[in-house]
Amino acid sequence: MTPDSTGTRNCTQCGAVLGAGARFCIDCGAETETDTRSASVRLQEDLGSDYEVLGELGHGGFAVVYLVSARQPQRYLAIKVMRQELMQSKSIVHRFRREISYASKLRHPNIVPVIFSKERADLVYYAMPRVQGKTLSKRLQRDGAFSVRDTISILKQLAEALGYAHDHDVIHRDVKPSNAILKKEGIVRILDFGVAKGLSRKGSNLTASGELLGSPEYMSPEQCAGDLQVDSRTDIYSWGVVAFELLAGRPPFLGRSVTDLLYKHMAQSPEDVREYRDETPMPLANIVSRCLEKEPSKRFQSMAEAVEQLSKCEVTAI
Ligand SMILES: Nc1ncnc2c1ncn2[C@@H]1O[C@H](COP(=O)(O)OP(=O)(O)O)[C@@H](O)[C@H]1O
Ligand SMILES: [Mg+2]
Repeated sequence: MTPDSTGTRNCTQCGAVLGAGARFCIDCGAETETDTRSASVRLQEDLGSDYEVLGELGHGGFAVVYLVSARQPQRYLAIKVMRQELMQSKSIVHRFRREISYASKLRHPNIVPVIFSKERADLVYYAMPRVQGKTLSKRLQRDGAFSVRDTISILKQLAEALGYAHDHDVIHRDVKPSNAILKKEGIVRILDFGVAKGLSRKGSNLTASGELLGSPEYMSPEQCAGDLQVDSRTDIYSWGVVAFELLAGRPPFLGRSVTDLLYKHMAQSPEDVREYRDETPMPLANIVSRCLEKEPSKRFQSMAEAVEQLSKCEVTAI
């Protein structure tokens, strides 16, 4: 029951084509042999000798990201591979495909692009340039809050990237420090369109099943409530949460449980960020609290508005 070059497996008992990751043949019921080789070995085999899988760069619940050296042209790639055990779930495979398609259509200096992608029955992955640097979450863990000046620079870049995605009808829906990498030169790049959503021009094409997507610390009240009509203003809220954390060294709400956190996003007023960081310029503190409004219509209505307000802070901060 070895996969052929397309990754298709056949049942050794009756010859029927097996589903991705299937443990039993649905035609004859025979148990299948699972491919127990590690994902990095399977990725290496699939990529061939022009590439060398060097190790892991990071991972989340759905995927593992490998550092890969490519020969022609000589460069380092980050290849995100979906976990094999999840390939049995059609909805998760579908979500991963969506991630690839959204990220592929965005070309912006502050968004990590897709270089190529591949899907076989038992292996789905896509390649990006490896971004050298640390995620904002690792920087926060290591060094605590950012300076006001650096915060403004990071926020501006994130806002420009998100504004560009919104203009291309993509909402990220998982804006958080671990989904942005800060390079040494101060450039920030957003990644992980894993739970991104297409936005219809009419604003209501969300066909989600009401599943809770995103990360509770950074989720807008409407996303917490499972609102199917969320629009780009959900990213504006999460961007505000990130802004708060960059300045305060902690997000506005901490919870004993996911439910507690969701409740706070939906019902509790955040503190003024200056309670944690008193040198925050007033205009910047106002931007943060405006983004954290529970009601989307009270927030900035576009990232461009937020960028405009930020540029006023830059003048004030210098
Ligand atoms: N292009 C990249 N360059 C460098 N590191 C990366 C890259 N893409 C992802 N990573 C690392 O892998 C981690 C997980 O990637 P991510 O796409 O956020 O996966 P998940 O969907 O599992 O959260 C990131 O937090 C980051 O540390
Ligand atoms: Mg992530």
